[in-house]
Amino acid sequence: MAHITDRTVLIVGASSGIGAEVARQLAHGGNRLVLTARRAAELAAVAQDVRAKGSACLDIAADALDPRAAADVVAAAAAEYGSVDIALLNAGQGPDMSMDQVSVADVSRIMALNYDVVLNYLVPLIEQMGGQREGGLIAHTNSLAGLMAIPRQGPYCAAKAAARTLIDAARVELAPRGIRFTSIHPGFVATERISGDDLPKPFQVSQERAARHVVRAMEKEPAQAYFPRTTTALVRTLRALPEPVSSRILRKLAAR
Ligand SMILES: NC(=O)c1ccc[n+]([C@@H]2O[C@H](COP(=O)([O-])OP(=O)(O)OC[C@H]3O[C@@H](n4cnc5c(N)ncnc54)[C@H](OP(=O)(O)O)[C@@H]3O)[C@@H](O)[C@H]2O)c1
Repeated sequence: MAHITDRTVLIVGASSGIGAEVARQLAHGGNRLVLTARRAAELAAVAQDVRAKGSACLDIAADALDPRAAADVVAAAAAEYGSVDIALLNAGQGPDMSMDQVSVADVSRIMALNYDVVLNYLVPLIEQMGGQREGGLIAHTNSLAGLMAIPRQGPYCAAKAAARTLIDAARVELAPRGIRFTSIHPGFVATERISGDDLPKPFQVSQERAARHVVRAMEKEPAQAYFPRTTTALVRTLRALPEPVSSRILRKLAAR
């Protein structure tokens, strides 16, 4: 059972995968959950599970690419429950994309899907939490891919790295105001969305296990959290190797 209890928790990207599972795990704690994503029917089904497990839940279909819609979700959460204690910015996706086959628009879209969706919530959440006596926690589902350049994942890696840097700066600036930031870096997680691509997925973990790691990071609030240990060690090793050696290994790992 999660130790996060009696809190208002906003999850952006809660209709499937890791975000939906985090919502279900937090539902045991008598929390007040605000769930958002674009697909209203899938979101409503997750909200129903949450209520059945004993937490209050507001589900709001909204596109995180729209800054006005994101600000409205934060305002609606605060209006319904009085505060936003914790936010998990979890929306994002990283399709297989080789740099010799993309358009500029493709890359910009991946930037928007993984960076703008964070930015659009970050600003209104900082405003909301800055006015709360207890401040608040903003957690972001980043990726181990945000720590290094992985072939066929370049635009996704770049967007996640940008989000991490922005959040790192906000953490330093806003600690005196009680706003905390946690970037969470999963390795491969067996969610439906990525099951169709043919990218190799070493040390893949289940959605349930990934959500347990995410919830633990939201409880402990480290600046950075990484899981699983195996993939984290692989990434750290690749980063420590001389560039020609790591490039050769990465090219092999990503070969079609
Ligand atoms: N699966 C992995 O191996 C893995 C590894 C490392 C990191 N991650 C990260 O983990 C996070 C969750 O991914 P997942 O694997 O659980 O995939 P997922 O099932 O596709 O979850 C993504 C969630 O974000 C929502 N979303 C996407 N774009 C949105 C938008 N514009 N506005 C509002 N909601 C949006 C999706 O809902 P709607 O489509 O209904 O909007 C969905 O609820 C992502 O940030 C991903 O980059 C995943």
